[in-house]
Amino acid sequence: MDRRKFISNTVLTTAGIGMTLNDVIKIPSTSPSDTVNIGLIGCRNMGYGDLQQHLSNPGVNCVALCDIDENVLNEKAADLKKKFNQSPKLYKDFRKLLEQKDIDAVIIGTPDHWHCLITVSALQAGKDVYVEKPMANTIAECNIMVKAANYYKERIVQVGQQQRSGFVFQKAMEIIKSGKIGKLRRVNIWANFPYGVGQPIIADEPVPAGVDFDMWLGPAPSKSFNKTRFHGVWRMFWDYGGGLMSDWGVHLLDIALWAKDITVPPEKVLVYGANTFEEPRSRETFDSMNVIYPKSDFVINWDMTAGIQSGPYDSPYGLAFVGDLATLTVDRNKLIVRPEWDSQAKKGKTDEYKFTEGKESHGEHAKNFLECIRTRNKPVCTPEIGRAAAMHVHIPNIAARTGEPMLLWDETAGRFTNSEKANQLITPVYRKPWTLPVI
Ligand SMILES: NC(=O)c1ccc[n+]([C@@H]2O[C@H](COP(=O)([O-])OP(=O)(O)OC[C@H]3O[C@@H](n4cnc5c(N)ncnc54)[C@H](O)[C@@H]3O)[C@@H](O)[C@H]2O)c1
Repeated sequence: MDRRKFISNTVLTTAGIGMTLNDVIKIPSTSPSDTVNIGLIGCRNMGYGDLQQHLSNPGVNCVALCDIDENVLNEKAADLKKKFNQSPKLYKDFRKLLEQKDIDAVIIGTPDHWHCLITVSALQAGKDVYVEKPMANTIAECNIMVKAANYYKERIVQVGQQQRSGFVFQKAMEIIKSGKIGKLRRVNIWANFPYGVGQPIIADEPVPAGVDFDMWLGPAPSKSFNKTRFHGVWRMFWDYGGGLMSDWGVHLLDIALWAKDITVPPEKVLVYGANTFEEPRSRETFDSMNVIYPKSDFVINWDMTAGIQSGPYDSPYGLAFVGDLATLTVDRNKLIVRPEWDSQAKKGKTDEYKFTEGKESHGEHAKNFLECIRTRNKPVCTPEIGRAAAMHVHIPNIAARTGEPMLLWDETAGRFTNSEKANQLITPVYRKPWTLPVI
């Protein structure tokens, strides 16, 4: 019996005897050799990368592709045929894709402003979900997604913060949590990337042939078409993304939070946000941000300058975990423990450690998702973890947008306690006919 049949039979046979699907679904549903049928929504860049990672595993098929851009859709369909000999059904509207019964899981590779709506719709349609990071573009949408994942708790939801599956970061956590660097006092994070200043300004143009731009905008406000706000570069506009702060912030802040297993939003942030790159560019988000996150017994520091690409410890981005015995620096490629010097004992306060063979971990993250689809275990990056990271980027962005140097977040009330202007940016206003999902 394959997994789909198992699940539907289980629902039938347990109906009326007081067991829910969740009670039974914890039992590994079937053999790991069972097939997993995937549908991809948002195919151009990361979504297609994620799909290929999934397809590199045994028993995985792509049965559906969806994109609002016919050019992207056709190009990826041809590539899939060539590389994987797969011929998925093609869609321009994700709602139609979600009606396809043989899809077990969807990968959501759209811009951030679509993540919430599509995730909730996919859960409602009974699909498991791999949603790219940041989990959503606003605080309210993150909340809804966590609520939806808990409501449809028999479903698996993996957020695409793939560093959680990377050996180099897992090793860093092992070292920090073992006490080797001593008491953790501070985490310094930096992210400096040229693309974060946006594109040179160009005039609006007609919508390209084959593009359903109204569907690309979706719940976001109506706008004219401009290439500098479209594929790949939408990140620099608040309606669709959160700039470099959120693009890299969720990846890196996630690792800082992991060191102390923090899965809640920051209670307090102190923020500087500005545009210090002088050339006028097509963008709304900030190119320079400093954020201080005071925690109960340590502090996280975020330091970001877009438009450049050099940084401390010879890396454009990374984290330095400062302990009283050593500082551990880590990025996707390397992990180094740099001991403090004990001048009395004339030796390091702890052992040196160096690992420089780290690599990208999208493949491992996809494997974890597939494993969880088969075992029904929790994935390594749950919606709660995705929300915590996203809240650590959305709150500073809101502070910078509203000109508040400090914001205080009340998790119980779900509001800022010191700024009504900031509270106005918690919930997006969806453009009709789209409505914010209600769970
Ligand atoms: N995990 C990572 O390391 C990583 C890296 C890059 C991007 N990302 C994330 O992946 C997501 C996509 O980023 P990207 O760089 O691939 O963007 P992109 O603009 O290159 O691709 C997005 C695709 O989604 C399509 N799309 C938009 N609205 C759609 C809709 N309603 N239905 C179907 N298709 C739709 C677009 O036409 C486009 O083809 C973002 O959330 C981004 O933050 C993650």
